[in-house]
Amino acid sequence: MAKKKVAVLTGGGDAPGLNAVIYTLTKTCILKYGYELIGYKFGYRGLYTNDFMPLTLENTTGILHKGGSILYSSNKDNLFDYKVMENGVPVRKDVSHVAVENLKKEGVDVLVVLGGDGTLTSARDFSRLGINVIGVPKTIDNDLMATDRTFGFDTAVNIVTEALGRLHTTAESHHRVIVVEVMGRNAGWIALYGGIAGSADIILLPEIPYTVDNIVQKIRERDARGKMFTIIVVSEGAKEEGGEVTVSKVVADSPDPIRLGGIAHKLSYQLEERIGEEHEIRPVVLGHTQRGGETSPYDRILSARYGSHAARMIHDEAYGQMVCLKKGEISSVPLEEVVGAQKLVDPNCELVQVARDLGISFGDRHVHRFK
Ligand code: F6P
Repeated sequence: MAKKKVAVLTGGGDAPGLNAVIYTLTKTCILKYGYELIGYKFGYRGLYTNDFMPLTLENTTGILHKGGSILYSSNKDNLFDYKVMENGVPVRKDVSHVAVENLKKEGVDVLVVLGGDGTLTSARDFSRLGINVIGVPKTIDNDLMATDRTFGFDTAVNIVTEALGRLHTTAESHHRVIVVEVMGRNAGWIALYGGIAGSADIILLPEIPYTVDNIVQKIRERDARGKMFTIIVVSEGAKEEGGEVTVSKVVADSPDPIRLGGIAHKLSYQLEERIGEEHEIRPVVLGHTQRGGETSPYDRILSARYGSHAARMIHDEAYGQMVCLKKGEISSVPLEEVVGAQKLVDPNCELVQVARDLGISFGDRHVHRFK
């Protein structure tokens, strides 16, 4: 069995399960295959600055359950379009050759990249440069087409569900309307799953434009039935019919500079103007709590399956691929097919229908009678 040197990095926003993948990959590579591992710090930035640490059984013990990444992460460092200073002036350059040289210098045989669409795009590009790359799909947004599940999503849904349970008691006690903003970028998966599991009354998704009129109508219907409170889950990427997304900030040096956010406050003001006499409206932004803390049991297991399979792929030299989950089975898919294909909620999918059957409104024109 040839001894290999494996490098690992975690890129993009952190997601619960990164450590579980690192843990499983490290254990499997060392104990089953006898490989050596290093981890680059802060994603691709560490690959550029050659900042890495050994990954051993000792320094990865006890991390299976922990959120975050022991290797740290960055969502700004695209080495194919990287900010460097030249004569005191910032310029953007392709510095990928530096990373390739660093990998060669350290004698790395395989680079395992844990990330979402942006990070995996670079993984594909390094693969095109001849580096042996294996991808592992991470993101709380669950918006990668090439896999049924990304790790991190289940934990985020659990956090949203728990928060909605807590908010219900306050909403009910004060007859309030609570507008809960959740993450997900342009995909409504977190809002849809969390909203159904947490018994939301209205769920607003990027994929189904809403009107404030329809939301007010739903709240009034509930009032008429004696349900004097309403929980609205709004995805950060949701928009009114004919409207635009709400942007909280632009991170200039990020490959994906738009940060969504603010929709809960915007919608709360709009509702205040319409029904402020009847109800107090309160926005709640769950924000980064959705990525924080402990990893859910489902995500720990999914991450362990991904980590174990990635180790097997290294052994089989199945490079240029991303580990994935399809119909409950772990397999892999070429990196070339992974990027740029966003998985969005189909407005006619079964889960949207289930929500409608439960009387949940999506703020669209559908007639809702019961909830
Ligand atoms: O992609 C994961 C995610 O948490 C999105 O849901 C959210 O829009 C974005 O990252 C937030 O990014 P940042 O951590 O840079 O604020």
